[in-house]
Amino acid sequence: MNYIPIFKLSDLPKESQQIINFQNTKVLLLHYDDQITAIGNTCLHKGGPLGKGIITKHSEGLCIQCPWHGWEYNIKTGKAPDGYLDQQSVYDVKIHDDQILLSEQPIVRAKRAEHDHSAIKDLKALQYQTTTDSINILGISTTNMAKGAARESTSEHALLQSLEHAKQHHSASTRLLKLRDLEFRACEGYYSIHEQACTWPCSITDANPNDGMTEVYRSMILWADVILVATPIRWGNPSSLFFKMCERLNCVQNQITLHNKILIQNKVAGFIITGGQDNIQQVAGQMGTFFTDLGFVLPPFHFVGWSRGWVAEDMEKNVEQLKKSRYLKRSVKDLTDNAIRLSKQIKQMDSSHMNTPLPKRIESDI
Ligand code: FES
Repeated sequence: MNYIPIFKLSDLPKESQQIINFQNTKVLLLHYDDQITAIGNTCLHKGGPLGKGIITKHSEGLCIQCPWHGWEYNIKTGKAPDGYLDQQSVYDVKIHDDQILLSEQPIVRAKRAEHDHSAIKDLKALQYQTTTDSINILGISTTNMAKGAARESTSEHALLQSLEHAKQHHSASTRLLKLRDLEFRACEGYYSIHEQACTWPCSITDANPNDGMTEVYRSMILWADVILVATPIRWGNPSSLFFKMCERLNCVQNQITLHNKILIQNKVAGFIITGGQDNIQQVAGQMGTFFTDLGFVLPPFHFVGWSRGWVAEDMEKNVEQLKKSRYLKRSVKDLTDNAIRLSKQIKQMDSSHMNTPLPKRIESDI
C-alpha cells in the first residue's frame, strides 16, 4: 500500500481536527488521545461535514458528532456507536518526521447500514391518498387550550361546525388534528446550518416517526384535498402552536427552493380566526401568505373572522356569544362550501407545469 504525505504534524495540534482534500474526496484528520487518525469526512446520513462537528465520549471511545443531525462515528474505527451498523471509511496513518502520511486507499471502506423507515415509507415515497373524486377535509386546530380541561375554544368550536357541515352537506371525509394533542418537537433550525440539512421528510420525523408532526405531514400532504386551519388571536397573531407547526413545514417549502419540487398541488386552504380582541386581517394575511408559499390555493373570501373587539374583556362570554352568532354559522358554512367547490374545480387542472416564482438555490448569489 502506498502512503502519501498530506499534512504537517506541527499544523495539527493536540485536541484538534482538520478537513483535507485527499484523492478526490474529503478526509478528516484528528489528533486526540495522543494519536493521529483519519476517517472519511462526509456523513453517511445526508452528507454533513463531520470535521465541523464536535468530539463526544462513548464507552467505545471518542466519536465525532455530525453538526447536521448528530450521527456519530468512532474517530479510530469509523464505526457508529450504540449498536448502529454504519461504517465510515478509515485511512491508515503513518508519521514521518513532521509529515502525516495516509494510505492511498481507505483500509476500511464506508458502508451505510440499512435503516428501518417503514413507519414513514408513505411520506418518503409521497404516496398521495387523494383521488379525483375524494373530498377529504382536514381540520387543524391550533389552539393551545389545556389538554383534557373542560374548556371550550371558540376557534375549535367553529372548526367543528365546518367539518360537520362538510360531512352532512358534501358527504366529505373529515379528519380533525388538534395540535395540542400531538406532542411534536420544535424545528431545530437545520436549514440555518445548511439548506441540504433540512430534508424531506423532516429529519426529526426521520429520526423519530412517533413525533406528532408525522401525522400532520401525512394528513396535510398525502390525504387532504382541503385544509381548514383554525386559530385564536394571540397578541395580534396566530397561536404559538400555529407557528410551531409552520416552522416544521419548512421542509415542504424547502423542496421548492432546493429541487423545484412542489409537494402541495391542487389543494385548498381556508382559515377560521377568532379572538376576544381584534387583528383578524393581519392574522389572515400571515396565514394566507404562508400556505400559498407551500402551494395551497385560497378560495374567494378565504377566512372567517370573529371578534368581540378591543373592549370585550368579559371573555367568559366568548363561547356563548360565538355559539349564538348567526353570522358565524353562515360564514363557516360559506367558507366550507367555497373551499370544497374550488377543490373540485382545481382537481381538473393539470398542475404538472406549475411555476414557482420563489428563490431557487441556483439564484441565491445573484
Ligand atoms: S447526521 Fe450527518 S448529515 Fe445528518
